[in-house]
Amino acid sequence: MLYLLHTLPGLGQLAWREAEAKLPVTIGKPGPSTIGIRLVPRRNDIVLLRYAGDPKALLRLRVSEDVFAVAARAFSVSSDERGLRQIYAAVRNSRFVGDALNAWKQATASRRLPATFRVVAREVGEHYFMRRAVGKAVADAVTDGWPGRWQKVDEEADLEVWASLLEKELFCAVRLSGLEMRQRGKQHHLPASLRPAMAAAMVFLTDPAPDDVFLDPMAGAGTLLAERAAAGPFRQIYGGDINAKAVEAMRANTRSLKGAITCERWDAGALPLEDESVDKVAVNLPFGKQIAPGNDLVALYGGVLAEIQRVLRPDGRLVALVGESQALNKARSAAPQLRPGPNHRVTILGQAAAIRIFDKRP
Ligand SMILES: C[S@@+](CC[C@H](N)C(=O)[O-])C[C@H]1O[C@@H](n2cnc3c(N)ncnc32)[C@H](O)[C@@H]1O
Repeated sequence: MLYLLHTLPGLGQLAWREAEAKLPVTIGKPGPSTIGIRLVPRRNDIVLLRYAGDPKALLRLRVSEDVFAVAARAFSVSSDERGLRQIYAAVRNSRFVGDALNAWKQATASRRLPATFRVVAREVGEHYFMRRAVGKAVADAVTDGWPGRWQKVDEEADLEVWASLLEKELFCAVRLSGLEMRQRGKQHHLPASLRPAMAAAMVFLTDPAPDDVFLDPMAGAGTLLAERAAAGPFRQIYGGDINAKAVEAMRANTRSLKGAITCERWDAGALPLEDESVDKVAVNLPFGKQIAPGNDLVALYGGVLAEIQRVLRPDGRLVALVGESQALNKARSAAPQLRPGPNHRVTILGQAAAIRIFDKRP
């Protein structure tokens, strides 16, 4: 069965690596395999994943925000008026519709087939027809050709059918995930809070281990702490922030999580932690509007990097999300033992940013 995993721009590769690392493999069946990544600029990275196991396992992935089962595909959709007829025919006659609807039943633990549906249509590239026309072609094909009786509605549909026309390639897929996969039940949100999928990608890059002492020195509402707790066993998680309201939100968001999690109000430039007492650090460095005017970013980052270098054990790892790469580059002289590794380019609220990895020299 072919699935689509939607994630944030720039995270496609990491969503793929997480899926291949974490999805359970059924004996006698092939393991998960990724057959490609497609980009919807400024909206999504889409991972095309073949998986023979229970689709419910896909809903437990954390670097992905949404999961879809592919019901129909077309490869050479014409950009002129013939394209709409091709889309209609591909969706109406697809032999994957039954499997996709079964995946929906399994993922949603529903005994019956859905009866109402709505179509979400997206287009990337130049086409003679509008997005709405793609939606109509798909809706007509569902009502005319899919098994069962279908009623198209505008809201509160049993089933969402997403039609993504990416240049000449069409994916028509049914949505298996609900809002909770994207939101993860976090209650207290601050303006600078990370999307959980971004935090999960950063935690994944720390290479979580069961005896990890994990630190986020500028933790805001605690999204990285919650994602580290969800990633598997740990010895201790420390989170802190200079802002009292952030610490309040962090405590509220981590209260129900199991394990040793300590949240403190502190200045990340003077951490109340022993030298070499931490295995992994992940941090979303404040930038842009999150910084009071007149504050020197290079000095702030330099102070924080020096403290991270001090508390990290040799071979420990720092994963930092940075919007102001130049300021970080200038600040790096404050922490010469932090050796830079690979970068991942991402987009945060439409702004270019990067996830940067540093390992502390032994
Ligand atoms: C980008 S936000 C972190 C958001 C967090 N990752 C989340 O998802 O909620 C940066 C945080 O750094 C905090 N901060 C700024 N200067 C700090 C300092 N010197 N020490 C500790 N925290 C600081 C801010 O209060 C803010 O909450």
